[in-house]
Amino acid sequence: MEILGIDIGGSGIKGAPVDTARGVLTAERHRIPTPHPATPDDIIEVVTQLIDHFTWKGSVGCTFPAIIKHGVTFSAANVDKAWIGFEAEAALREATGCEIMLINDADAAGLAEMRFGAGQNHQREVVFVLTLGTGIGSAIFVSGELLPNAELGHLEINGKEAEKWTADSARKRKDLTWKEWAMRLNAYLSHLEFLFSPDVFILGGGASKKFDKFEPFLTTQALTVPARLRNEAGIVGAALAATRLGP
Ligand code: BGC
Repeated sequence: MEILGIDIGGSGIKGAPVDTARGVLTAERHRIPTPHPATPDDIIEVVTQLIDHFTWKGSVGCTFPAIIKHGVTFSAANVDKAWIGFEAEAALREATGCEIMLINDADAAGLAEMRFGAGQNHQREVVFVLTLGTGIGSAIFVSGELLPNAELGHLEINGKEAEKWTADSARKRKDLTWKEWAMRLNAYLSHLEFLFSPDVFILGGGASKKFDKFEPFLTTQALTVPARLRNEAGIVGAALAATRLGP
C-alpha cells in the first residue's frame, strides 16, 4: 500500500509517499521549513502544501511532537501552546480533504524502527526507542506492541527535566564534549533501566548519526544500538500508522 508520510519537526516539515510493505520512500522527500510561531493554522497550511506538492488524494499519516489521543493534541512542550486540546486530526482532514491519521513523532519513529530498522530482531523483548533531538521522544514496545504516548523525556533527573538536560539540543547549547554528554545520557538511561528494565534501547534523532562518538562511554545494562532509519523514520512510521485507514 502507498501512503503519504509527513513528519512535523521543529525545523522542518518533511513528506514522501511510502511503500508500507517495504518501508521505502517511492518519491524524493520534500521539505518545507517549519513556520514560527508554529500555530495550528500555520502548520496546517504547510501540510496542505506538502499534500499539493505530491498531488496526493489517498490516505496520509502525519507525526506531531505531542501527546495525541483520538486525533486531539494534548501537550505542547516545544510547540505553540494553541495545540493543547486542539482537534488537530479533524482540522487537517477538513483543510486537505484527505483521510489523515495523526501520531506522536517518537511513536512513529518507533513503529518504523521495529518493523524495518534496529528493532526487527527484538520483537519479543521490551524495547525503548528514544529520539534525542530538540526534545527527547520515547516509544515503548512490549513484544512488538506499542504503548502510545509515553512521555519519558519529561522525567525529572537531578531536579531537572530530562529533555532539557540530556537532549541533543542540550549538548549543542552547552557545547558539551561527547563524553560529558554521554555522562548525562548514562544518568538518564540508568534511571529508565531502574524504572522499566528494558532489554533494548534504540537511540534515534540527531545524535544517532554520531553514535560511534558516544558509544564508548555508555554504561547501560540493556543492549543499546543506534536507530537505522535516520531521517526517514518519522515519515515511514507515520505511513505505517495510517495503513489502518486503507489506501
Ligand atoms: C514531546 C514529545 C515528543 C518529543 C520529541 C517532547 O518534548 O513532549 O511528545 O515526542 O518531544 O519530539
